[in-house]
Amino acid sequence: MKELYRLLHEQGFGSRKDCRKLIEAGLVLIDGEAVLDHRQPVDPTALDEIEVDGEPWPLLELPLYLLLHKPGGYETSHRPLHNPSVFHLLPYQFEALGIAAVGRLDVDTTGLLLMSTDGQFVHALTSPKKQVPKCYRVTLKHAVTDELVARLLKGVYLKDDDEKVIAEAVTVVDEHTIDMTITQGKYHQVKRMVAAASNRVEGLHRLSLGTVELGDLAEGDWRWLSAGELAALGF
Ligand code: URA
Repeated sequence: MKELYRLLHEQGFGSRKDCRKLIEAGLVLIDGEAVLDHRQPVDPTALDEIEVDGEPWPLLELPLYLLLHKPGGYETSHRPLHNPSVFHLLPYQFEALGIAAVGRLDVDTTGLLLMSTDGQFVHALTSPKKQVPKCYRVTLKHAVTDELVARLLKGVYLKDDDEKVIAEAVTVVDEHTIDMTITQGKYHQVKRMVAAASNRVEGLHRLSLGTVELGDLAEGDWRWLSAGELAALGF
């Protein structure tokens, strides 16, 4: 059993004081009835959902693991400078629970972005040691050539870096499109690799990270990672 205000706090509804106020204002309903005593004991395992401020709230299982289809024009940052934040595409409670992105996508990059409140998960999947493969659909300014593919696979030097960066795999999709897999996550890596190989990225969309695929999730939508997807990532 847990006091109701503590449960709300753990679910990301703000400070303990904010949660007491929500309850005392009659904004928290259990089984359709407002509960006014913030110390009311509740059994989270027996509750599927509560209603807070007119919205049904299915109780979250922590930590959170989710996949967002990032749209263009959003910054992967809690404090964006010039654009809205990807975190604003999620319920506001998730930020209070400490959600973080698994790596960053540029503001104009779209596609798969994993997010979690589990620091170990975020660290493991972004650690350079782990070499997690990331596959991007890359739209190119100039037509694909055999030479471009060969240069990306052989590796290119990026400015200020003395080690070559190599594409793990490159598949030609059409005259101006390739799918490219990389295992590092350097700043603007795909754009810089393509530029170093004498072409230019006009569009960038992440299709997968490790074994997790974006699939047909609509742009701007998110979904929980399944137990199978987490197990395949080693969690
Ligand atoms: N490489 C880039 O250049 N940008 C991204 O957003 C991701 C990978």
